[in-house]
Amino acid sequence: MHATREALLHHLGKAESGLSGERLASLLGISRTAVWKHVHALQAEGLDIRAERGSGYCLKNDVLVASLLAERLEGQRIGCRCLVLPEVDSTNSELMRMATDGEDPAPGGTVLLAERQTRGRGRLQRNWLTTAQYSLAMSVLLRPPLAPTEVAQLPLLTAVAVQQALAPIAPLVIKWPNDILCKGRKLAGILTEMRAEPGAVHSVVIGIGINVRPPEGGWPDELAAIAGDLDSVSGRTLRRMDVATAVLQRLDALYHDYLEHGFDSVRAAWWQAHAACGKPVRVHHGTGYIDGIAEALDADGALLLRTASGLTRVIAGDLELRGAE
Ligand code: BTN
Repeated sequence: MHATREALLHHLGKAESGLSGERLASLLGISRTAVWKHVHALQAEGLDIRAERGSGYCLKNDVLVASLLAERLEGQRIGCRCLVLPEVDSTNSELMRMATDGEDPAPGGTVLLAERQTRGRGRLQRNWLTTAQYSLAMSVLLRPPLAPTEVAQLPLLTAVAVQQALAPIAPLVIKWPNDILCKGRKLAGILTEMRAEPGAVHSVVIGIGINVRPPEGGWPDELAAIAGDLDSVSGRTLRRMDVATAVLQRLDALYHDYLEHGFDSVRAAWWQAHAACGKPVRVHHGTGYIDGIAEALDADGALLLRTASGLTRVIAGDLELRGAE
């Protein structure tokens, strides 16, 4: 039953236009009556599947389908296993649990997406809002042959991957350390977590949250002035599967190039996409702020600021652009 449901969603999600009951029956190896029953079951779950004259069954929702994502990422290392959960506390937490499951640990390259996160987490112990059908919450498990100190390069690499993958959709910039912005509004964020011991990295989970459209009823008050979404900036209605595919394909390509050739080209691409190269910024940290000119990114992701007292290395905080965009 579950396999047929998934296969039905796979074919409906893949079809450019509709699929007739007869075509679906032959693809799924079941009768037309069984197709009809499965379509009704999906409609009862709340999915908008319409039987349109001439074209057949059409899926109107923007649904995440694990098997379809796996098919699109076939041959890549990132995406060798794809999973979609309807709800989870946090895709990062769940994937880290899967990575360390003694019986059957998830392999490097596993990708986990969820429709809803009940405890989505952001940088600096903040919450991250994920709404079904509107956002993408995905985490990628890597088992990189890196020293623990080099892992700080991976969120920067991921920011470049997101920025480059979505560049054809919208003109995006990166804001240190790895926020993705368009016209001053944050569209995506990255949270990287690691399990390691001195000298050895066991698992790295890279969590990527992307706002594809605003939640129904709009953003909550605290986000209304700062959050943005891809549909609004592109003027299109995007499919989350397409957004996820583009980001994961770019991430796979950049990651393997980085393992082969090192951080230099990532650092150059990051700097080129950064909203504030050579411009005045203020970095807020726990106890205050530092003003300076953003001068460079160093090899472990710290921002080098030219301040009144010389060059200062900033490792964490919130960067405020001061007339920099
Ligand atoms: C940030 O604060 O900018 C980082 C946000 C990261 C959110 C993503 S959504 C998928 C993954 N699961 C989480 O709990 N967080 C990350």
